[in-house]
Amino acid sequence: MSKQDRVLIFDTTLRDGEQAPGASMNQREKLEVALALERLGVDIIEAGFPVISKGDFESVQIVAKKVKTSTVAGLARAVRKDIDAAAEAVKGAKRPRIHVFLATSKIHLEHKLRKTPDEIVQMAVDAVTYARDKIDDIEFSPEDASRSDKTFLYRVLEAVIKAGARTVNIPDTVGYAMPEQYAKLITDIRSNVPNINKAIISVHCHNDLGLAVANSLAAVKSGARQVECTINGIGERAGNAAMEEIVMALRTRSDYFGAMTGINTPEISRVSRMVSKYTGFVIAPNKAIVGGNAFRHESGIHQDGVLKEPTTYEIIRPEDVGFTGTGLVLGKHSGRAGLKDRLKRLGIELSEQEMLRAFDRFKDLCDKKKEVFDEDLVAIVEDEVQEVKDIWILDSLTVTSGTKIVPDVTMRLKSGGKVHTKKATGDGPIDACYVAIDKITGLKGKLLNYSIQSVTEGQDAMGEVRVRVNFNGQKVIGIGASTDVIEASVKAYLNAVNKACVAATAKKSKTKKIDFGLQP
Ligand code: KIV
Ligand code: ZN
Repeated sequence: MSKQDRVLIFDTTLRDGEQAPGASMNQREKLEVALALERLGVDIIEAGFPVISKGDFESVQIVAKKVKTSTVAGLARAVRKDIDAAAEAVKGAKRPRIHVFLATSKIHLEHKLRKTPDEIVQMAVDAVTYARDKIDDIEFSPEDASRSDKTFLYRVLEAVIKAGARTVNIPDTVGYAMPEQYAKLITDIRSNVPNINKAIISVHCHNDLGLAVANSLAAVKSGARQVECTINGIGERAGNAAMEEIVMALRTRSDYFGAMTGINTPEISRVSRMVSKYTGFVIAPNKAIVGGNAFRHESGIHQDGVLKEPTTYEIIRPEDVGFTGTGLVLGKHSGRAGLKDRLKRLGIELSEQEMLRAFDRFKDLCDKKKEVFDEDLVAIVEDEVQEVKDIWILDSLTVTSGTKIVPDVTMRLKSGGKVHTKKATGDGPIDACYVAIDKITGLKGKLLNYSIQSVTEGQDAMGEVRVRVNFNGQKVIGIGASTDVIEASVKAYLNAVNKACVAATAKKSKTKKIDFGLQP
């Protein structure tokens, strides 16, 4: 077997991914994602853009402190205050990196930066030299590289490599490139930048034309050896290249690419679910690799083929990406040990206290649902055993609704041992519930987003509701699951209420305002 080249995976879920409108995560969630990325075997984690705000700075700092095996990078514009902030934030990492970027396309130079090409080269060199004095591992990105004049791009790349950049990243910032064109750009860089062998060529593709993964893979075929990507492909506008797709394409077609990654692929599903949960971005059922239907066969001919020999219709073994499938797992006679064992197999370990709550919910579910599947268990755990102090708990709920009446609700919530009851009406039964909750808690929530997904199939399936609520400027995501969609909706809203209460009592971090004109 021929020797396979190693392609480094640079994950930017916590930076470019988090820039997706509505995808913001809190510090605890970011750290959990970073630790999951480390378990996944990601080579470099871009943890944030430290100069943006105190919150971003602290998130990068904590990730840098806790992550041990992956390199931790902080983003910086080619200016000293950004580089200082990035250096300070990542300095506690075992393997720190500063990622400096500066646009090189004519459009950006003329309209955004208002600089001449000579000034840009000087700025880039100064920034890399300055950063290199602080940290050894420097990456440089000529923003909008794919729309830059090639000769000018070669000049900038040669200069920053000479100044000490170890990685040069070639962003397709606006997702404009076509795969052949982008592959040729990488080939041309390899032949026209004299010192290119002293740096790793990285690629960073956006998905505006749906080509982020195709472009990244075409670049690998041309010799790029670092790919920047995000979990589930989240990111600015239409997103970034999806990591799970890049990794599985390289693995499944290693015969074609002659390259591999160091990713521990069975961890993929878990991280994908985690990012979906924390950002509130639901994964489409037909999403490659991590969609609910990615390994489901509907046609009888396909089912027959797969039963006879899985490779007839499956090019990836579901277990290789951690897809557990819809296996019937437990029933009403199963005990705590059975549940614990099953959860462990799903990669979920709970404390004694959490296990007690999960078991109660499991027994409850067995009474309502004939069959309990892996997905139900994951939903129970995510719903019930979330790391949120339950300040408000649903005690009971009575809803009257119909086609010719105004829905009304009687809501009973428990808090600190006391039960609080309120009645409310609304535009629909769920709206009435939310009005009643607001009356009891005294908070005023503005519902920004509401989505419901069936966790498994069948009439008795559990519904998982995700809401995004704005409480007085603070936007939080809440998740709730139940076989009853109104109850799931109430639990999701209460989860958001509890998160908002916890956050309100936590120390507020002051946000430093910066000029967003140069933000990627
Ligand atoms: O898309 C882009 O150009 C970026 C850079 C900061 C790498 O995100
Ligand atoms: Zn980007």
